[in-house]
Amino acid sequence: MAINMNFTRNLSPNTWTLINSAAIVVVLTILYIISALILHYHIQVLPLLVTDTGVFLLSYFIYKYILEKFIYSQIKLIFKTIHTLKSPRGTKNKEIDLRQDIISNVNKEVLLWAQDKKEEIEELRKMESYRREFLGNVSHELKTPLFNIQGYVMTLLDGGIEDPKVNVEYLQRTKKNIDRMIAIIEDLESISRFETGELQLEMKKFDIVGLIKEVIELLEIKAHKKKIKLKLRVDPDKPIFMEGDKERIRQVLINLIDNSIKYGNEEGNTKISLFDMDENFLIEITDNGIGIEAKDIPRLFERFYRVDKSRSREQGGSGLGLAIVKHIIEAHNQTINVRSTVGVGTTFAFTLKKG
Ligand SMILES: Nc1ncnc2c1ncn2[C@@H]1O[C@H](COP(=O)(O)OP(=O)(O)OP(=O)(O)O)[C@@H](O)[C@H]1O
Ligand SMILES: [Mg+2]
Repeated sequence: MAINMNFTRNLSPNTWTLINSAAIVVVLTILYIISALILHYHIQVLPLLVTDTGVFLLSYFIYKYILEKFIYSQIKLIFKTIHTLKSPRGTKNKEIDLRQDIISNVNKEVLLWAQDKKEEIEELRKMESYRREFLGNVSHELKTPLFNIQGYVMTLLDGGIEDPKVNVEYLQRTKKNIDRMIAIIEDLESISRFETGELQLEMKKFDIVGLIKEVIELLEIKAHKKKIKLKLRVDPDKPIFMEGDKERIRQVLINLIDNSIKYGNEEGNTKISLFDMDENFLIEITDNGIGIEAKDIPRLFERFYRVDKSRSREQGGSGLGLAIVKHIIEAHNQTINVRSTVGVGTTFAFTLKKG
């Protein structure tokens, strides 16, 4: 008889045992009837039924025992492998009750395990491509100023050093490129210190209005060159106290206001507003600059991510500013978000705890 493999595969071990025990009983009964017919003796129905029942029960329990032992020995291995290989974030390594639920659970467990592994592999692949992209970015960012420096030094060595029109100019350009390399390395260092948890915040009470005024003063010349007005939208003489690391928040404000100038339009303006939100204050930096496309917004806080690489590099940006800003705000257990429309402008908003 041709057995449908899918049908047999779908049978539970219990049904299998029942079918096999019944088959043994049927075969024995047929043999008994045949021998009774050949040897001409009378078929005794009652003893036959009793014997059949006995044989059925005996074979059922023997079969069940052997089958289960075999299945358990096979599945136990799969179970143990799954449980030892299980990712730490997966199901807890609880004691496995092999007797109770091994057969009913094995399919579910294997599927879950496979799904878990698939996600882990996907994550590792993403991390690997992220790592590769990051290394590529670091070397690219450092190579550009390094090659510039090499060019200037070569020109100076080739006689430029004697030429008063060239020497000072080239040395100044060399210095600018060295400063850029130092800035990139310092930014990377602070990101990695934030990521390893090495960087501790110095939390204290400080006046945010005073701090914003200092940052505006610092960036006023840069803003003036683009005829951009920096406007503080609260009373400049009324201090507002916050709880945080003042120097790190200064870094946040510098980067956000600096971005609003770099990516702002000529004769534009940047508004800095504060909103009272019960336990926190919301600090918003709004510009009417070039804006950011919706597709770029989710990646904005990634290291080295720049919407328009050439424009950003032209402005002296390496795309590390917002990554640092996010780390600082998150280290304060606060949040930062961005709203933007191309051609209209951008708003960065972050929260800080009241002091
Ligand atoms: N206010 C803004 N308007 C438009 N685009 C912005 C604005 N702020 C940031 N961006 C975009 O986000 C990118 C990332 O900003 P981020 O501050 O991280 O880097 P950067 O300013 O280019 O360099 P860095 O801050 O390291 O000097 C910028 O390159 C720019 O494309
Ligand atoms: Mg920046």
